[in-house]
Amino acid sequence: MKLGGHVVFGENVDTDLLNGYVRLLGELYDGGRWVVVVGGGEQARRYIAAARKIGLDEATCDEAAIKVTRLHAYLFARALGDLAVQAVPTTVDELRYLTGFGKVVVSGGLQAGQSTMAVSIHAASVIGAERVVVASDVDGVYTDDPKKNPEAKLLPRISFAQLAEISKKVSQRAGDYQLIDAVGLAMALRTRIPLYYVNGNNLEAVRQALMGRQAGTIVAD
Ligand SMILES: Nc1ncnc2c1ncn2[C@@H]1O[C@H](COP(=O)(O)OP(=O)(O)OP(=O)(O)O)[C@@H](O)[C@H]1O
Ligand SMILES: [Mg+2]
Repeated sequence: MKLGGHVVFGENVDTDLLNGYVRLLGELYDGGRWVVVVGGGEQARRYIAAARKIGLDEATCDEAAIKVTRLHAYLFARALGDLAVQAVPTTVDELRYLTGFGKVVVSGGLQAGQSTMAVSIHAASVIGAERVVVASDVDGVYTDDPKKNPEAKLLPRISFAQLAEISKKVSQRAGDYQLIDAVGLAMALRTRIPLYYVNGNNLEAVRQALMGRQAGTIVAD
């Protein structure tokens, strides 16, 4: 699961929602290889903006954001307690290793130049996941950004090619990787693991998606 940074870790940490995720994963987790990748949200954007303002390069902006995602991952893992591995991986090798203990692995970002979507798809590929649940702050993938275009329509099911087409409009600057970034898209096109985009503020939708049911947008062949 990719937990968008705007879901639990918005302006303030939504501890009620965080507890909701803890209960949900406690109910559903089956001891298999599960990875939760937590995004950076508003806090990461704040550091990206500051780094940019003082003239630091885009890779450094990404690195600052990655540090924020790791703090989010740390808190999420601590909240999950015994259900999760109490270490946040910093490389794919560590991530792979940590998935072998029968507990949920919680990660943040790993590498500049790619978003936590790319990490999620990479992790899914490494663990042979059946699906990636992408929990963001909108109901799924729309024909256009629903926050900017009121005419945008929710798409219940699209192909990877359609996702590629829609994501062309998305900027690739640090912090701007909405929907999916270029690295994540390349990996998605290669692995073709279905992506279930849902609204992460709606735990019922997250539950349905984790169980492989339609609850927002399914991206699949
Ligand atoms: N076609 C689209 N369909 C759905 N959402 C879109 C689309 N185009 C742009 N967006 C925007 O993408 C946003 C989600 O991406 P964003 O990177 O802001 O959040 P996130 O990935 O959940 O958080 P983080 O990057 O911190 O993990 C939505 O809030 C929406 O406004
Ligand atoms: Mg994002």
